[in-house]
Amino acid sequence: MDAVASERLTSSPNVANIYGFCGQSAMNEIANPTGRVLIKGARKLSSHQRLSYAIDVAQGIAAAHGIEDRSPKHNITFSSQINLVSLVHRDVRSTNFLISKSGRMILHDFNCARFMTYDESTGASCGFYKRECDQDRAPEECWGLPLSEKIDVYSMGNVFYTILTGYTPYTYPKRYTLEEASDFVRHGKTPVIPTEIIENRNPALQAIIKVIRDCWAYHPKDRPSAAQVAEELSVAYKRIYN
Ligand SMILES: Nc1ncnc2c1ncn2[C@@H]1O[C@H](COP(=O)(O)OP(=O)(O)O)[C@@H](O)[C@H]1O
Ligand SMILES: [Mg+2]
Repeated sequence: MDAVASERLTSSPNVANIYGFCGQSAMNEIANPTGRVLIKGARKLSSHQRLSYAIDVAQGIAAAHGIEDRSPKHNITFSSQINLVSLVHRDVRSTNFLISKSGRMILHDFNCARFMTYDESTGASCGFYKRECDQDRAPEECWGLPLSEKIDVYSMGNVFYTILTGYTPYTYPKRYTLEEASDFVRHGKTPVIPTEIIENRNPALQAIIKVIRDCWAYHPKDRPSAAQVAEELSVAYKRIYN
C-alpha cells in the first residue's frame, strides 16, 4: 500500500518519493524526521517558516486525497468528480512527515491508507469502519463511527498545532496519559494553544490558528477539505509576504 500510494503521488512535491520496491521493502527518498525540528524546536522557527510548513502539510494531504484509484473494481473517474476523495491516509501525525533535502515537509508512511469506495448509482461515499483512538486521532475514530477522509483533516489540525507550538497533542500544559488524551478527543476537548501564541498578532501565526480550529471541528461535515485549507493558507501567504 505504501509503495502504491507513494508511486502514484510521485508528482507531488509534498509526498515522499519512492524509487523502487520489492515485497515489503521500499527505497524511498532520504529525508529528515520532523521530530527534532518541530517538537520543542518549532517555536524557534520564524513565522514565515511555520506557515510554509503548514502549506506543505495541507498540500501533501490534498494530493493524497486527490489520488486516483484506477483498479478495475472501481470505475468512477475521481478527477472528473471534484468532491470524490479516493484515498484516506489514516495515520496523519507529525512523525509521519519528513523534511526533504530542499526543506519541504513531505508526507510519508501510507501503511494504513485506504482507498475509498463509492456507491456508483448515487456517488455517495460508502465510508469505512476502524475503531482506534489516541491523541492524534479524530473523535469519530474513537467512537467507532463511519469514517471518511475528514479524519485526515482533523489530524492535520494536530500537525499544524505541532508546527505552531512545538507540542504534540495533549503534552501542554502537562503531559496527559494516553487514556486521558483519548478521552479528551472523544469528548471534543482539543489541545490547548498557549495563550501567548493566541495573543500574538503575527498574521502568519493567526492564519495557522484559524485553520487549526476549522480542522478540529467535532463533526466531520463541518471540516473543510484539505485542498480548501491548502488554498486558504496559500492565499494568506501571498497576502502577508508578497
Ligand atoms: N525516507 C526516509 N528518510 C528518512 N527517514 C525515514 C524515511 N522513512 C522513514 N524514516 C524514519 O523512520 C521512521 C518510521 O518510518 P515509517 O515509515 O513512519 O514507519 P512506521 O510505519 O513504523 O511508522 C520515521 O518516523 C522516520 O523517522
Ligand atoms: Mg510512521
